[in-house]
Amino acid sequence: QAAEARLIIHADRGEQTISRYIYGHFAEHLGRCIYDGIWVGEDSPIPNTRGIRNDIVEALRQIEVPVMRWPGGCFADEYHWMDGIGPREDRPVILNTQSGKRPENNHFGTHEFMDFCEQVGCEPYICGNVGSGTVEELSKWVEYMTFGGSSTMADLRRKNGRDKPWKVKYWAVGNENEGCGGSMPPEYYAYLYRRFQTYMNSYSGNELYKVACGPIGTDFNWLDVLMDKATGYMNGIALHNYVWSGERSQSSINFGEDDWFFLLRRSFRQEEFIKRSVEIMDEYDPDKNVAIIFDEWGAWHEEVMPGVNPFDCYQQSTLRDAMVAAIHFNIFHRYADRIHMANIAQTVNVIQSIILTKSEKMILTPTYHVFDMYKVHQDATYLPMQIECGTYSHEAALTKEMSDDSRDRPYVDHFGPLNKIPVLTATASRDASGKIHIAITNVDPNNGATVNCEIQGADIKNVSGTILTAPEMNTHNTFDKPHALKPEAFDAFDREGEKLVIRMPSKSIVALELD
Ligand code: AHR
Repeated sequence: QAAEARLIIHADRGEQTISRYIYGHFAEHLGRCIYDGIWVGEDSPIPNTRGIRNDIVEALRQIEVPVMRWPGGCFADEYHWMDGIGPREDRPVILNTQSGKRPENNHFGTHEFMDFCEQVGCEPYICGNVGSGTVEELSKWVEYMTFGGSSTMADLRRKNGRDKPWKVKYWAVGNENEGCGGSMPPEYYAYLYRRFQTYMNSYSGNELYKVACGPIGTDFNWLDVLMDKATGYMNGIALHNYVWSGERSQSSINFGEDDWFFLLRRSFRQEEFIKRSVEIMDEYDPDKNVAIIFDEWGAWHEEVMPGVNPFDCYQQSTLRDAMVAAIHFNIFHRYADRIHMANIAQTVNVIQSIILTKSEKMILTPTYHVFDMYKVHQDATYLPMQIECGTYSHEAALTKEMSDDSRDRPYVDHFGPLNKIPVLTATASRDASGKIHIAITNVDPNNGATVNCEIQGADIKNVSGTILTAPEMNTHNTFDKPHALKPEAFDAFDREGEKLVIRMPSKSIVALELD
């Protein structure tokens, strides 16, 4: 039975721009993201350009990836960039303790990463080492990459094959420094941050954008201390907040409706998390000079796929994960005045990947398709809207969550229980050419929704649509069936002037283009 819903979009009222960097990515030296993922080496039979897989580059170009974060994650605070320059055969082999103490031959270093970004057509976002690194080391990395004149560092870059300096605007000073990045208390890190960033210079017209390390999850005290002690020294502050599977199943593909509800409910709760973070930031920075850089988000299912090393964090991505992505984007858009960047974890073969590889085969996950459907919102004007819809709940998941899920405690403690989630979540924007794009998600896995949509202040001539849905909650693409789930044309709507009646199936994401 289809639920009735109402959506009013104010096409004449947009003010904020949705930063394209919200559609950013993250590639860490973890599991098979870089090695046996992006990087196959020049001698590989897999088609590559200077060691980087061509099919991955092509897929990333298609979704117009704006920015790529590297080399970590936790790996960033054990990475010494000088290990990854010069002739590959001379580079030291280190142990990647984040990836189960796996040997790391440093074949994918600064030059390879920058080549990757240039091939994809995206900007780099470098995360520096604070936990086990030095001020001098990070300062020299900036100089090595961005100084156009002659100095020992810039000349070393030339010797290693790159004459012109690179443009590298985004730099983070450490990663999760309250945990894997050095187990620091917030006051200590705040002063360390101030010290490190002092020696990170803007050279040759390359103006640096400096990002301080924020809290892990809901540690709001960390955010408060950083804003108190270091607001004037940063352009952005990093937030990390994953959504985890329910207690019942940690599997990315074998789950029931209670797990579906549980994870989507967690995704909706990101709004409370962002709202609280913004409140804290507003106290110290009412003019919004410091941006949120949400540089790790995604659905993390701790049960890795069978036969896989648990450190590899290799999971599948189903229709449920696509829903998670759409819910996140809809929330990020609403906070466009504070959120400058977001980076899904991670691009290839790790956590909520958009791409999975197996030898020469590559598949695009449902999450990839959400990025594709939503790319039209990059740099578009956010349009405010009102949604009136019913709610969706699942009793079994609630009982479990209220009782003993320690993962959910911080949410319940900070925000109280959330028993029901809205059936619909949506977003809309107007692009530079005047086209309006609307995305609507029906999270109910059992019932369709009839959405009565009114677009105020627009003159609409044509409407076209795309839908992402599947027969089952856990439908996903495999190496044998790579297109089980992909966007299809959608025309289940009627239009009368500026009014649309949209008939959405259960568990679906619909994207409409209006001009
Ligand atoms: O994305 C995987 C890991 O999750 C990152 O290395 C770390 O920053 C976070 O805890």
